[in-house]
Amino acid sequence: MMQQLQETTNYIQQLTSGFAPEFGIILGTGLGALVNDLEVQHAISYAEIPNFPVSTVESHSGKLILGHLAGRRVVVMQGRFHYYEGYSMEQVVFPVRVMKLMGVKKLFVSNAAGGLNPSFNTSDLMVITDHINLQPSNPLIGKNLDELGPRFPDMSDVYDEHMVREAMVIAEDAGFDVREGVYVSVPGPMLETPAEYKYLSVIGADAVGMSTVPEVIAARHMGMPVFAVSVITDMCTPDRLKKVVLADILEAAAIAEPRMTLMIRELVRRS
Ligand code: HPA
Repeated sequence: MMQQLQETTNYIQQLTSGFAPEFGIILGTGLGALVNDLEVQHAISYAEIPNFPVSTVESHSGKLILGHLAGRRVVVMQGRFHYYEGYSMEQVVFPVRVMKLMGVKKLFVSNAAGGLNPSFNTSDLMVITDHINLQPSNPLIGKNLDELGPRFPDMSDVYDEHMVREAMVIAEDAGFDVREGVYVSVPGPMLETPAEYKYLSVIGADAVGMSTVPEVIAARHMGMPVFAVSVITDMCTPDRLKKVVLADILEAAAIAEPRMTLMIRELVRRS
């Protein structure tokens, strides 16, 4: 595994003449437009990158983009890998580990999520303050990669408190509301039943989605500070539960996207 990670890192570094990103950004479903704010230096299709899985979700364009955001060097995943696509957890987090080897110091993650907290509304932003992992595995199972991090990494403060507070200030200055809450990750790809939504709410989750937690676990294993934000694309409380279609999720994501983009851009600027 370390050899594969090194091989991929070397490939990207050679292709980009040693471009050394300071920050990593993973863009979720329907949230790829942050790329329009980038001064793009290099855009590499996942299919070209040795050892990278290839994304199978149509709404993800599957590119690694290196460039400047708010004057800072960033590497952006436009499209991510999900466990439900059939990848192993190690494949899902492979790009995050490559980011670390490239020198990335902080990770920013976005996702589309269902709202469980009844005070939320569609197209709200929820800054993630904690998570519950209900995916059937995690990327640290197996022999520990001692070069990357410890066998038993601490998870008592996963989401960087300073960045959470900074995000609140950014939203207030820009004049929009932001929620905070707990994100629960489920395997998918089917959405949840009403009984499952009730259960997820009872165990303490404010939003539910099918991503983010594996990448965040891998990042924290390597000691990387993490900021993550959900866009609430549909409400899953009993009174507001509707049949979900991908087009509706993408539409709700598009409405929230400018706020999410501003938040991440300003956090990067201030980092
Ligand atoms: N569950 C319910 N609604 C959602 C999800 C999910 O995983 N992702 C986006 N909306």
